[in-house]
Amino acid sequence: MSKIEREKNNLMEKIVSLCKRRGFIFPGSEIYGGLANSWDYGELGAQLKKNIKDIWWKRFVEQRDDVVGIDSALIMNPKVWEASGHLKEFSDPLVECKKCHERFRETEVIFPNEYMPKKRGGAGMKEEIEKYMKENKKCPNCGGEEFTASRNFNLMLKTFLGPAEEKANEVYFRPETAQAMFVDFKNVLETSRKKIPFGIAQIGKAFRNEITPGNFIFRTREFEQMEIEYFVKKNEWEKWFEYWRKEMWTWMIDGLSLKKSNIHEFEVSDGRAHYSKKTMDFEYDFPFGRKELYGLAYRTDFDLKNHFAEPPYCDNGTGEKFYPHVIEPTWGVDRSVLAVLCDAYQEESERIVLKLKPSLAPYKAAVFPLLANKPELVKLARKIYNDLRKDFMVAFDDRGNIGKRYYSQDEIGTPFGVTVDFQTMEDETVTVRDRDTMKQERIKIKELKSFLRDNV
Ligand code: GAP
Repeated sequence: MSKIEREKNNLMEKIVSLCKRRGFIFPGSEIYGGLANSWDYGELGAQLKKNIKDIWWKRFVEQRDDVVGIDSALIMNPKVWEASGHLKEFSDPLVECKKCHERFRETEVIFPNEYMPKKRGGAGMKEEIEKYMKENKKCPNCGGEEFTASRNFNLMLKTFLGPAEEKANEVYFRPETAQAMFVDFKNVLETSRKKIPFGIAQIGKAFRNEITPGNFIFRTREFEQMEIEYFVKKNEWEKWFEYWRKEMWTWMIDGLSLKKSNIHEFEVSDGRAHYSKKTMDFEYDFPFGRKELYGLAYRTDFDLKNHFAEPPYCDNGTGEKFYPHVIEPTWGVDRSVLAVLCDAYQEESERIVLKLKPSLAPYKAAVFPLLANKPELVKLARKIYNDLRKDFMVAFDDRGNIGKRYYSQDEIGTPFGVTVDFQTMEDETVTVRDRDTMKQERIKIKELKSFLRDNV
């Protein structure tokens, strides 16, 4: 393993450890020995995740006139999945090691992480992968070199509704939030009175019986998505594809403040989802390799045609009935959290600091009395804390010395530290310390809220 690889592995370990130590993300069902690749968001992780979803919803639903949001059931009529093609087509190639009988997702596991096809998509990629497989495949579990032929493994997660576990009661957890936005298309059209181009958005859980989940919260069997189905005229799909491609970039750079150099886009030609005529993947340089962060697909009229026997849309002007075409930008919430954490993690000489964008940080500020054994300082600090809490997520800390308290907040990304000291008693000002520059300035207590409003 090269030095860079060792450092990257190390970085992932450090992030996982920080997440556990500080209440961002814990192993799921831990006291029962855990459940493979299931993770629970703790108090800070839940808040970070909520902030990402809130910002997304505000930006793409509340602030737009052409997108409406829905919140649909996780379990839908199984006919939805028959019509959408998921029961037949939604699968990954699975291979089994002939020596240890472990099963793997062909492309993800047989290839070591450093392998990257020379061409990302495009002619010749399939051949290149097959050649590579032949020459290099090794079982990650036992090193075996012989595998069964690959077969398609369906990723739909099945359960039963009702008391009897029989075929008639079989249902599936949704593998994407998207389908409800197609199935509810006519209802939304009638109630919202929108005209194309317009979109339906949703945030929610999706479930996939992944063959090989892993890499912390990167690939799990239960995860969250933020998706938009944007309905357009057929002859305008390219224009809107390009429009959403740019919106996705803006989201990553402005919305999440990810470093541009860590993001890469490429057009997927082999291995596109069954519904997509054109797919663009946005990949992020995670410590474990360059992997898909988000996707953008041109789903044509595939889904609406599958669900509606008659064209569900009527042009007001011409009276023409037709099936709108769909551009689908899709964002994984958990992968957003992971990318944000990886991007923000920094080690400086004496401290670990999460340089989170202030609007994403779980706490916007932390309030400290300079000395915990001075009741008048503690009382005033508590008063300021209680007042700020009405408008912002803020923390209070009076343990240990002030330096340790600053570092403790740096590690969870709190952008501002507010210290109440003896001068506060005299002139009603506090010290505000900036997480990134560590510079301090004095601000009047009564101006704290507007300061935070301007800066977070
Ligand atoms: N409706 C389209 C769709 O579901 P996808 O590329 O299969 O497309 C969209 O999934 C996004 O959901 C991905 O770009 C990724 O961010 C996230 N995602 C997919 N599978 C995931 C998994 N097993 N664990 C965590 N996130 C996942």
